[in-house]
Amino acid sequence: MNNLSCVILAAGKGKRMYSDLPKVLHPIAGRPMLRHVVDTACSFSPSQLVIVYGHGGELVRQSLSDVACEWALQEQQLGTGHAVQMALPFLPDNGATLVLYGDVPLIGLDTLQAMVEAGQGGKLVLLTDIIDDAAGYGRIVRDGEGRVIRIVEEKDATEAERHIREINTGIMLLPNQHVRQWLGSLSNQNAQGEYYLTDVVGMAVTDGVEIATANPRQSWETFGVNSRVQQAELERIYQLEQARKLLEQGVTLLDPARLDVRGSLSCGRDVVIDISCVVEGRVVLGDGVKIGPNCVLRDAEIAAGTEIAAFSHIDGAIVGVGGKIGPYARLRPGAELAGEVHIGNFVEIKKTRIGQGSKVNHLSYVGDASIGAGVNVGAGTITCNYDGVNKHLTVVEDGAFIGSGTMLVAPVTVARGATVGAGSTITRHVPEAQLTVARARQTTIPAWKRPEKKD
Ligand code: UD1
Ligand code: CA
Repeated sequence: MNNLSCVILAAGKGKRMYSDLPKVLHPIAGRPMLRHVVDTACSFSPSQLVIVYGHGGELVRQSLSDVACEWALQEQQLGTGHAVQMALPFLPDNGATLVLYGDVPLIGLDTLQAMVEAGQGGKLVLLTDIIDDAAGYGRIVRDGEGRVIRIVEEKDATEAERHIREINTGIMLLPNQHVRQWLGSLSNQNAQGEYYLTDVVGMAVTDGVEIATANPRQSWETFGVNSRVQQAELERIYQLEQARKLLEQGVTLLDPARLDVRGSLSCGRDVVIDISCVVEGRVVLGDGVKIGPNCVLRDAEIAAGTEIAAFSHIDGAIVGVGGKIGPYARLRPGAELAGEVHIGNFVEIKKTRIGQGSKVNHLSYVGDASIGAGVNVGAGTITCNYDGVNKHLTVVEDGAFIGSGTMLVAPVTVARGATVGAGSTITRHVPEAQLTVARARQTTIPAWKRPEKKD
């Protein structure tokens, strides 16, 4: 957008959060509220992005240190008009400025685009909404012809004005040409002793600047967060919205109210997700993937036809086509499974490649390993990868069979087609295509008697 600036007000304290964390850093869907607003603002590629900060200042700046923006400090919160004043040194003299709020995280791009459209030709644009209970909001006062003439804050309003149901959401588009002069002449002679941003509306009328209004696509886009209750409400709204989009794309969600996406989820055709799953980071699910109930998926790529059964935890892993994972499987970062791999219950895989068709079906830990194709890893097998100081590699070549309860003390290699007898503790190279057993031989002591109790 040409010559559009954005100012995000984020100086408020958030007293009612009862928290040491500055309000705008409290998350919705795992991301600070302020970041949601910053990301939305950035999709306009604004010529200037200014964040007005105050309470918890340094922490707020640090948390968004990767954002290309200007930081304007508002040391004392003297009102919304005063807050925007702090951003003035960074704003150009022409174009327009969108005023957003760090605690109004769900404002939508479409709504803002409509405002920018409405502001063509240097108009002042207010985002207003008509609601049943307007208590607490500034009211939009219009003249007999329906033209906006001013905004009155509830505490300053007359009884008649309080009956107005059209409210100021706070979000507005200001013509930069006038904004310095308007903000410079604000006064705090009002019920709250604050410099009201809303007073620029009356000034625009006096200066003959046209005022347009726009409405949000959805009322909840303009909901602010002042308490944990409101934060929780917006979290649910956001999550239902994610779920709705997935359903519209053809994903089956057994219960759209029981999915939490705290990152991005992209799905192929005919994906089915059972209840109570949590998605974090970037997750990609191929065609026909089925996710069982109560799974956590974080930064994962799961290829077509794979089924992840209940209570599995997949983190930083790649799963090939037609895999069967879980229930109760844990794939940790660096797990890379080829096609048709089976990982069963209570199996943990870390930093390990597993080849086509291999199986680790029960109660195992496989870490820092390279497992070939067609390998069967028996129940209770453990790669002893850590000597207390360093991690070592275990290699199991194609077609090997590892008997149950085997300890593979790394570094060690089990060569192609080898069989390892159950209960072995393998410390040396296991040669190809033979049976290797490394355990004490079973003996029976015939005359042995159980000890008896002495008096
Ligand atoms: C403001 C509007 C009101 C509107 C309401 C919508 C004014 C004067 N009034 O009310 O018409 O209906 O929003 O919620 O603008 N902030 C700062 N610095 C300040 C003051 C506020 O950064 O000095 C930030 C707050 O952190 C918050 C936002 O601005 O994110 C709005 O402030 P708040 O006090 O909640 O709004 P009101 O003034 O009550
Ligand atoms: Ca206030």
